[in-house]
Amino acid sequence: MRGHPKLCALVMVSSLVALTTVGCATAASMRVGSGDVVADRQRLMKLNGASWADAQAKFKAGNIEGIAVNAETMALNSMHIPALFPEESLTDKSKAKPEVWQKWAEFEAAAKNFQTWAEKLRDTARTKDAAATEAIVKDFGRQACGTCHTPFRVPPPRS
Ligand code: HEC
Repeated sequence: MRGHPKLCALVMVSSLVALTTVGCATAASMRVGSGDVVADRQRLMKLNGASWADAQAKFKAGNIEGIAVNAETMALNSMHIPALFPEESLTDKSKAKPEVWQKWAEFEAAAKNFQTWAEKLRDTARTKDAAATEAIVKDFGRQACGTCHTPFRVPPPRS
């Protein structure tokens, strides 16, 4: 770098920028969320409920391809589930059962199962094949959502 002090400074500055950027990205990813993890996971679950309701309405209306965006929303949501259930986050506002943390591996597997179903629904809906999509839609609520709610969620009051 002798004879090119300006260039050297530039290289040093850009490596610093690169380092700082990496540092910022890490810090930012640890701060994702509102700070109220129970509210955040209930919000995510409400979005699952709305996405699934919308998917069913589209199926009835014959809009098969339109289901893909709802399925993709649920697939992405599923990947956030484990991080939204840190230990010691069972408050009186939460409907999670203590089994979430007692059987953590099974809970994680239930989230993964949900992801698999949502991705299968997404990819099938994209083919516009109504019969193949129906085969998934008819089991989705029970297989993708129910297999986690039954062991891990206090059932909502029947109205
Ligand atoms: C891996 C487990 C798991 C899967 C999969 C799952 N849920 Fe949930 N869900 C929970 C738990 C646990 C709660 C309770 C969270 C709390 O109150 O802390 C919950 C709560 C909810 C709620 C209530 C949210 C609120 O306002 O309090 C809705 C609605 C819901 N889920 C819908 C769905 C739908 C629809 C699906 C599938 C498309 C689904 N969930 C898939 C575990 C799951």
